[in-house]
Amino acid sequence: MANIAIVYYSLKGQTFAPGRQLVNLEKGHTAAAAEFIQKAVGGDLFELETAEAYPEDHMQMIRAAKAEFDKGVRPELKNYPDMSPYDTVFLGFPNWFGTMPMPVMGFLEHCDWTGKRIIPFVTSGGSGFGKSPEDLKKLCPGAQIENGGAFLGHEVENSERQIADWAKQALQ
Ligand SMILES: Cc1cc2nc3c(=O)[nH]c(=O)nc-3n(C[C@H](O)[C@H](O)[C@H](O)COP(=O)(O)O)c2cc1C
Repeated sequence: MANIAIVYYSLKGQTFAPGRQLVNLEKGHTAAAAEFIQKAVGGDLFELETAEAYPEDHMQMIRAAKAEFDKGVRPELKNYPDMSPYDTVFLGFPNWFGTMPMPVMGFLEHCDWTGKRIIPFVTSGGSGFGKSPEDLKKLCPGAQIENGGAFLGHEVENSERQIADWAKQALQ
């Protein structure tokens, strides 16, 4: 039986729903997917959070995140969960600007991934993983990185069965 961690980053609060309609989420899409995965396969759940919150206003938030992205900033995190006890890590993130968010990159750089199996999952507005698989390879030397699962953000809440089936199958 694999020793499983589920680690994710997800933005709470304002976000765009289809049609660029602004909605307020108590729980982000990736967080909801991570919880479905834990329910399906067990393991320990860890949320990555930035030490300083992004602006509440969504347009301002996107501008702040884009500025970080352009400069290659790694925002400090509240916590850097210890991955050393785990051999299999489900790693969840939203697609930001065609790859993974900078807070996730910062977390990945903090860990030793040698010999670990990483099963990524992404939620997005439609671009899926983008170039995050390439970035994952660079940031996690020595890991075995699986193809992973891509889900549309606004469909996650109604996709528990699909996500659970994917997670169980991904472990085989
Ligand atoms: C800063 C930012 C950048 C984004 N960039 C993209 C993108 O390039 N492609 C895409 O399909 N979706 C993009 N999205 C949409 C998110 O990937 C999507 O809404 C995701 O499900 C959000 O997950 P969360 O609720 O867990 O944060 C972006 C969202 C944000 C906030």
